[in-house]
Amino acid sequence: MGASLPALVRRPAVLWSALAVALAAAVVTVLIVVPGGSSADGDYRDADLPTADRVADLLGRMTMEEKVGQMTQATVAAVDPAPADLADLGIGSLLNGGSEALRDTPEAWAEMIDGYQRQALESRLGIPIVYGIDAVHGNAGLPGAVIFPHNIGLGAAHDPDLAGRAAAITAAETRAAGIHWTFAPCVCVARDSRWGRTYESYGEDPGIAIEYAPAVVAGYQGEDLAANTSVLATAKHYVGDGGTGYGTSTTDSYQLDQGVVAIGEEELRAIHLAPFQAAVDAGVGSVMASFSSVDLGEGPLKTHADEYLLTDVLKGELGFEGFVISDWQGVDQISSDYAEAVRTAINAGVDMVMVPFEYQKFIDTLLAEVEAGRVSEERIDDAVSRILTQKFALGLFEQPYADTSGAADVGSDAHRAVAREAAAASQVLLRNEGDLLPLTGDESIYVAGSGADALGRQLGGWSGTWQGTVQAVNEGTSILAGIEEVAPGAAITYSEDASEPIGAADVGIVVVAEDPYAEGVGDAGAGTHDMKVSEEDAAAIATVCAAVDCVVIVVSGRPIEIEPHLEGVDALVAAWLPGSEGAGVADPLFGATPYGGTLPVTWPKLVEDEPVNVGDAEYDPLFPYGFGLTT
Ligand code: GLC
Repeated sequence: MGASLPALVRRPAVLWSALAVALAAAVVTVLIVVPGGSSADGDYRDADLPTADRVADLLGRMTMEEKVGQMTQATVAAVDPAPADLADLGIGSLLNGGSEALRDTPEAWAEMIDGYQRQALESRLGIPIVYGIDAVHGNAGLPGAVIFPHNIGLGAAHDPDLAGRAAAITAAETRAAGIHWTFAPCVCVARDSRWGRTYESYGEDPGIAIEYAPAVVAGYQGEDLAANTSVLATAKHYVGDGGTGYGTSTTDSYQLDQGVVAIGEEELRAIHLAPFQAAVDAGVGSVMASFSSVDLGEGPLKTHADEYLLTDVLKGELGFEGFVISDWQGVDQISSDYAEAVRTAINAGVDMVMVPFEYQKFIDTLLAEVEAGRVSEERIDDAVSRILTQKFALGLFEQPYADTSGAADVGSDAHRAVAREAAAASQVLLRNEGDLLPLTGDESIYVAGSGADALGRQLGGWSGTWQGTVQAVNEGTSILAGIEEVAPGAAITYSEDASEPIGAADVGIVVVAEDPYAEGVGDAGAGTHDMKVSEEDAAAIATVCAAVDCVVIVVSGRPIEIEPHLEGVDALVAAWLPGSEGAGVADPLFGATPYGGTLPVTWPKLVEDEPVNVGDAEYDPLFPYGFGLTT
């Protein structure tokens, strides 16, 4: 038998000894590698393994401290002074609240987030963080990003495919900045337009949100959540946030937001739960619990504390396999006894807590509750498994750092064209005496009103900052600039308060507007936002419309009390919050596109008529749900 082996090893005894040494060395090698594992088979770092196996392997390696760390979401402002906490505490997620940590470019965002990611990867098991933001109508934390109409405008366009395309562009412009997760879409169903979050709803009929959810979730999450054009989506706020009773909120000066939903389980399911079934069926990876409470007959219960709704219904009945994120300090609202609040929320089915400031206190509290046996290890393992599953799907273990190759497309003409298309499609023509519209574009036009040249007003809340600002953070074109672009042959005079002589103008355009707001700050009766036309805008309407044929355009997050001001108004348009592309408002005005939008919410005669919804026994609005003239 040919001596292919060296003489020394041909003797069986020596051969087996050599093999034993080699085998032992191999076993020792596997055992002494970094506990985080290597790419050896059966190891969570092995990207070829099924996700469930990777999750199981990683979970099996984690200490309870590391597991609880993964259930912790901190805000950048809290972690920034102590970034080492990310590794030391194994914090699972970061977010920046609506008004903090803004960066001017995708690269600057990516640099910031990657810096935190590097810290996180120093942890024993090297589990990456997932970074979330409220990119609810574009990546509005990025000045150059495209800003789409808020959901109420998209609902008016009755075009789920368009809403899906808007979500896909938002996802690309968000991931290009190194951000992995958006807290959108709100699949809320606004039933009282006095609610400051009405504009985050697609409309008062759950059928719109049900129709839109699949396209929007697919738009955000794409075919592959790991792609640099996809982000994890969040269906929010579970459940019934748009169905609260006026005056039931106990938060700040809010009236509706974070209030109590007491409409009975059948109506809760039909109106507010159904859109979540659509989002879950579409594969949404996260759901955000609502600040509001639901009263099913035994008194109000905070949804963050509601095991029936969060676990039995959402995870059991609806089959939700992603993870539930709390809202901002939403857990704290459950009880003044923080330990009770924490264990109640986790046992109810909250998987990750948007603490977001005192994260060490949260971690210590939850660990103590587990230690005491008041929160089971099984519940912790379930929560962490859900979180890790999404992190693996996002590709964060393979690509933990930003891929900014899409940064060149942020704010591109192609993206802005879609936002302009969406703005145009969202316009609802409510009156058109004498077929005044569309204009020819050769007229002498007098433009007035607080919304004509105020980009911040057409963007609304969640734009650059939490509440939005009249002087916009984000780039875009005002409605006035849009008119000038679409009708270059028109002779335009602009005077916000209509103090300039109207002269021989052929037609007047008065753009009235709400100032931006977000959440309960915008609740009518909570503060300065009263759903009424301002004195200045009312005066501008009266001046202009008494002198010439006039169009009134309403820039608002919801129907406002316009009836008292309609004397002499020839045409009336609901523009909603059209976003960064003001030309989209001008396009149908001059016939570049047709008017085709319809009301996604009932337009009442008076604010005090709210709540008023299609299907009400007594229904006598100024303009009914579904109304819209065409041209
Ligand atoms: C807010 C909102 C929620 C948002 C979260 C993070 O309070 O209720 O919609 O996603 O905090 O900003």
